[in-house]
Amino acid sequence: MSTVLSAVAWPYANGPRHLGHVAGFAVPSDVFSRYMRMAGHDVLMVSGSDEHGTPILVLADKQGVSARELVDVNHRIIAAELADLGCSYDLYTRTTTPNHYAVAQELFARDHANGYMIEQTTRGAISPSTGRTLPDRYIEGTCPICGYGEARGDQCDNCGNQLDPTELIDPRSKIDGEVPAFIETQHFFLDLPALAEAIGEWLDGREASGLWRPNVIKFSRNILDEVKPRAMTRDIDWGIPVPLDGWRDNPAKRLYVWFDAVIGYLSAAIEWARRSGDPQAWRRWWNDPDALSYYFQGKDNITFHAQIWPAELLAYAGRGARGGTPGPYGVLNLPTEVVASEYLTMEGKQFSSSRGHVIYVRDVLQRYGPDPLRYFICAAGPENQDANFTWAEFVQRNNSELVAGWGNLVNRTASMIHKRFGAIPTPGPLEPVDEELLATVRAGFDSVGQALAQQRFRGGIGEVMRIVGEANAYVSKTEPFKLKADSEQERLGTVLHTLAQAVSDLNLLMSPFLPHSANRVHAVLGGTGELIPMPQLSDVEDLDGGPAYPVITGDYSGGPRWQSTPVVPGTPIGPPTPVFTKLDPSVVDEELARMSGEG
Ligand code: MF3
Ligand code: ZN
Repeated sequence: MSTVLSAVAWPYANGPRHLGHVAGFAVPSDVFSRYMRMAGHDVLMVSGSDEHGTPILVLADKQGVSARELVDVNHRIIAAELADLGCSYDLYTRTTTPNHYAVAQELFARDHANGYMIEQTTRGAISPSTGRTLPDRYIEGTCPICGYGEARGDQCDNCGNQLDPTELIDPRSKIDGEVPAFIETQHFFLDLPALAEAIGEWLDGREASGLWRPNVIKFSRNILDEVKPRAMTRDIDWGIPVPLDGWRDNPAKRLYVWFDAVIGYLSAAIEWARRSGDPQAWRRWWNDPDALSYYFQGKDNITFHAQIWPAELLAYAGRGARGGTPGPYGVLNLPTEVVASEYLTMEGKQFSSSRGHVIYVRDVLQRYGPDPLRYFICAAGPENQDANFTWAEFVQRNNSELVAGWGNLVNRTASMIHKRFGAIPTPGPLEPVDEELLATVRAGFDSVGQALAQQRFRGGIGEVMRIVGEANAYVSKTEPFKLKADSEQERLGTVLHTLAQAVSDLNLLMSPFLPHSANRVHAVLGGTGELIPMPQLSDVEDLDGGPAYPVITGDYSGGPRWQSTPVVPGTPIGPPTPVFTKLDPSVVDEELARMSGEG
């Protein structure tokens, strides 16, 4: 048994989630965490809303609300979506809590005290009207190299060259067209060169494990080749104050949003511990060198999880070229694995909320429920390569795999048992065909478990569906519907008992992927109560006197084990209600029309 931190990317609180968001991190991390708990590991799954940064401010300005009002609304929306999706967070919180501020400031202060935050004067772009930093990508102008008129401050998409915003000809702000001012400004830079060797050693060890997805380890190595110090503070008035004398009270200087967001993994564990009544309980996941940690996110975030976050942690421990000593949190674990997924497109194009090319999670949940979506993401999501969501494939997979494959097996099993026995029958002697099916299903706990332990979700769900196919084939081979004579009653009981056992075990194998349906299958098989624990969304008081806010929590300790579990003969089985719903092919056109209508 291991101690496992499941660290899930923190969604920006800038609006409701679309499918591209949840395909990359939310569903995969939940499937993994649910499996690991069932396999007996001590899992802590944390995340929250990422609420600072320029994009939030820009959007708030556009909507005529304060940043605080904007994130309050969006945090509530996102937490509800993730709870409805069934994501089993031990804590889903937010970055605007006093607890998170304190933890982020502790890390910054110690990184600084250990010598890894260097103060430098730079020339930075600001908006003359607001005084806020204009991040490079918010500046647009003519490329000095190729003359392209819409080059960004960080790079030119036409010739591909990296740019500095000061090089742009006729620079202007993408927010309001204003001409940016370039001012001399003081910032703290994380001394990545002084940490590069330590990061490299950590990556060596991770590469040797052979467990990282190859593209993730490769990318992480590449970006280490050319490290330079990176600014961890910004000229902005929304964010966490810089905890140093002379800076703390400066309303125009804040920590860089990415510096604080990754610290959320630690601050959420601390908040969880404080709420659990044992304020030190988080240390099991962070200070025990044998504890494992898995970081789930999209590929555009690898830099922050495989470089910036390890650098912040190494600096905190004093483990870079400048030495130093750890602060009160002690030596904190570096990531065991950075589990990054690729991109999901929709109907062949990139998601874009502004262009209306978007599918919102809440709409899918409302119309089709969570599990068909979870199934699609696991079976066809962007695990190792970019993937494409189409409504046609969604409907087809729902109908042929969930309804006609798994759902049909559940339904015919329960309905035959109900009609012929009214309860799970006692088996007679097993024939080889029965033994074979039971052995195939039992072997699934190893094969599917292995896939899930390695975050191979596509392989895992494919294996479960293969076994579903075996069970459906068993029905064709044994033809229980033809066993009608009195003399065949014992054989019928054996076949239906074997099927009940297979369906019940298959339901456990399915449950990390399809937790909601697993509870319905459980009921169809005569079970009572909730088999699979579900997350709770509730408003809680802030621990330090701040405003109350919604969180996702849950008690997942009572869930089933990852092992074949005997069904009990005599358990009454009523007439089954279908677990999945067949979708009419017209759904495809309806949804496509909706998308173009929304644009
Ligand atoms: N907010 C970022 C995004 O949605 C992810 C942040 S992950 C964190 O892309 F760990 F840094 F919080
Ligand atoms: Zn160019």
